Amino acid sequence: MKEKLQAIQADAIAKIEAANDLDALNEIKVNVLGKKGELTQVLKSMKDVAPEDRPKVGQMVNDTRSAIEEKLEAVKKDITKKQREEKMKNEVIDVTLPGTMHMKGHRHPNQIALEELERVFIGMGYEIVEGPEVEYDRYNFELLNIPANHPAKDEQDTFYITKDILLRTQTSPVQARIMETGRMPIRILAPGRVFRSDEVDATHSPSFHQVEGLVVDKNITFADLKGTLEQFAREFFGPETKIKLRPHHFPFTEPSAEVDVSCFKCGGKGCRMCKGSGWIEILGCGMVHPKVLKDCGIDPEEYSGFTFGIGLERVALLKYEIDDMRLLYENDMRFLKQF
Ligand code: DAH
Repeated sequence: MKEKLQAIQADAIAKIEAANDLDALNEIKVNVLGKKGELTQVLKSMKDVAPEDRPKVGQMVNDTRSAIEEKLEAVKKDITKKQREEKMKNEVIDVTLPGTMHMKGHRHPNQIALEELERVFIGMGYEIVEGPEVEYDRYNFELLNIPANHPAKDEQDTFYITKDILLRTQTSPVQARIMETGRMPIRILAPGRVFRSDEVDATHSPSFHQVEGLVVDKNITFADLKGTLEQFAREFFGPETKIKLRPHHFPFTEPSAEVDVSCFKCGGKGCRMCKGSGWIEILGCGMVHPKVLKDCGIDPEEYSGFTFGIGLERVALLKYEIDDMRLLYENDMRFLKQF
């Protein structure tokens, strides 16, 4: 019995020492110590051992088992350590290899111009608000003094969802929505997307952006409008910029004006940018028409206001000297990266 146990032990230890992975170790463990293993077989044959010899033989079986288990554990530790070292060696990072470049996101020139515009008007105490892109005819036209048969409706042709609901043609409906709330005073800037059934070309797109401004309070005059626009022009286009107001007509303002800024490229001398005139048109504006105030629930005897509308693409194209509006919508990284 003793020789048999010694033979099992010697054989097991030799096999364990020869094993070079955890699977092999496990197989040895099963073959020797498992339910049908060699050592277990020996234990089963205890019944043939004389009763007085059983404790001694039992002890010998246990010793053999411990010796094999110890060896298994030791070799297992070794193998695990070696495997980890191997893994570490393979995973070494070569910091001198060139990295993988990731394309970084970039603010769109429209967005840069808008944030700059907002910064200027927030500085003057304006609040940024938004209105819906899908709008009622009532807000887009009716409340802005553009009745059903008004020619301005033709100029601002758009996509109708129903007879009364359309994609807004201007951000001006936000004026009516804000005035209707009756909260005074009003000093808002309303940027957003607008729609017209225009063909795409260098200066037109069926979808573009406007930034609407509206101020309503007691004693607001045309001088306030002019001063505000002067301040805006200086901050946005440069401290030397001058403005010029030309009489114009908009249905919802009276009087109305179109505003030019002195060319920030040539300083007013005349260049390609301003087509030789020294001036560049940038927005429409005026005093809120008393009828519009009244229709929106504001007493024109008590309150007055001014309003202006800026074409966002137009000022972005000017500011960044881009000569074709289509470039803004093509999402070509080579173009966008420049801003
Ligand atoms: N909504 C006008 C348009 O799209 C632009 C405009 C002109 C807005 C004068 C205004 C304004 O607020 O006062 O043609």
